Amino acid sequence: MKKIEAIIREEKFDEICALLEKSGIGGMTVSEVRGFGHHRNGLKKKFKIEIYADEFQVDKTIELIRKKARTGTTGDGKIAVYTIDQLYRIRTGEEGASAV
Ligand SMILES: Nc1ncnc2c1ncn2[C@@H]1O[C@H](COP(=O)(O)OP(=O)(O)OP(=O)(O)O)[C@@H](O)[C@H]1O
Ligand SMILES: [Mg+2]
Repeated sequence: MKKIEAIIREEKFDEICALLEKSGIGGMTVSEVRGFGHHRNGLKKKFKIEIYADEFQVDKTIELIRKKARTGTTGDGKIAVYTIDQLYRIRTGEEGASAV
C-alpha cells in the first residue's frame, strides 16, 4: 500500500478531483494548505490531496495528477509517494490492502 500526496494549484482542483472520483481509487482526503517552493515568493494557497492506494493504482493515479496539474509555469506543485506500513478500516476491522 502507498500514500500518494499531491500539492496542486487551487484552480486545478475541481477537475482533478472529479477525475479521481471516477478513477477507481478507494477514497481521498483533501486539505486547503499554504506553502512555498524554491522561489520563496510567500505562502500561496494550494490544495493537498492524500490517497491510500493499492500498488496497482499508483502509476495511473500519479499520471492523472501530473497531466492535469501541469501548466508548465512555476508553482504547479509536487507529488510524493510514501509506503504505508499499516492501514485499518475502522468499521470492519479489515487491515492491509483490503482496508484501502
Ligand atoms: N520542499 C518542499 N517541501 C514541502 N512542500 C513543498 C516543497 N516544495 C514545494 N512545496 C509545496 O508545493 C507547493 C508548490 O510548490 P512549487 O510548485 O512552487 O514547487 P517548486 O519546487 O518551487 O517548483 P516550481 O519551480 O515549478 O515552482 C508549495 O506552495 C508548497 O506547498
Ligand atoms: Mg515554486
